Amino acid sequence: MTLAEFIAACDALEADAERDVASAGTLDEWTEVRNQLVGRKSGRLTQLMAYVPTLAPEERRAAGQAVNALKSAIDTLLDSRQAALTSVHSDGQPRDLTLPARRPWTGARHPTSIVIEDIVAIFRTLGFTVALGPEAEWDWYNFGALNFPPNHPALDMHDTLYLQGNDAALLRTHTSPVQIRTLQQYDPPVRILAPGNVYRHDMFDATHAPVFAQLEGMVVDEGVSFADLKATLAHFAKELFGDATKTRFIPSHFPFTEPSAQVEVSVDLKDGRGPRWIEIMGSGLIHPAVLEAVGIDSERYTGWAFGMGPGRIAMARYGITDIRLLYDSDVRFLRQFAG
Ligand code: PHE
Repeated sequence: MTLAEFIAACDALEADAERDVASAGTLDEWTEVRNQLVGRKSGRLTQLMAYVPTLAPEERRAAGQAVNALKSAIDTLLDSRQAALTSVHSDGQPRDLTLPARRPWTGARHPTSIVIEDIVAIFRTLGFTVALGPEAEWDWYNFGALNFPPNHPALDMHDTLYLQGNDAALLRTHTSPVQIRTLQQYDPPVRILAPGNVYRHDMFDATHAPVFAQLEGMVVDEGVSFADLKATLAHFAKELFGDATKTRFIPSHFPFTEPSAQVEVSVDLKDGRGPRWIEIMGSGLIHPAVLEAVGIDSERYTGWAFGMGPGRIAMARYGITDIRLLYDSDVRFLRQFAG
């Protein structure tokens, strides 16, 4: 080979390399092309390089420059083709680099917790503080101090879960005992919210659970009236369900409030049936006997209280039709509430 022929062979190899590298459609084909071009023994470039020392000494410099330039051109071709092939999915489709990255699921708040937090946030702006009490309670806190007569049906074993080994110990059936514990510990004025679990001797079916969340509210101060209760709860209902929400008070009865009322709100459950009344809580003015049971002068102080079920409110808000979904811990259900 003359020098001119050698340079022509370099040019021809560069043209072939461009074509062959571009036509490699998979990493396997790319490896094959690379071996043909720069394979250690029989690669075409390798052979051209081995030819340089056989040229006349005055031609070797030019030949060496030509073949080195060819080598870096081929290396660049191979590198960029390899990079292109590696950024293609195993299914042969190019990767879409504009897709959002996959985020790990870090969990979600339970719908009942979301509702509790929303309620607490609303009452916090009105000066209420969260108070907690035990779920295992003495019957005096759950019933006696709350003015239940000793023969009240709620005290029956069929309604209340008593704890073994002590006749006076039970699982609280409502959050109202936190009223008593708070008034024992703090002097009026008090404004508290007490969320927590309560227990009833009930079946577990689509509409009942033997354990469920309640949220108690209580205000005790001088000069507190039923008007304060109505205005506060009407404001609360608008904050929770929207400005158009109406509130009505239906006469009711609880041993620890007098008068007592069920609070109903008109809400659009977004099920196409339009706004309708749903009952969200029991409420009333605290019975003087309750204040006297904790040593508060019921001539000087008055108060009001309410108790609601955040689980039922969550069901209304999110269109949940089976209460058991709130207890199943099924992530397919829970992840729908992830922010
Ligand atoms: N404790 C009552 C219940 O469980 C609700 C309630 C609380 C009613 C406070 C009036 C005042 O049904």
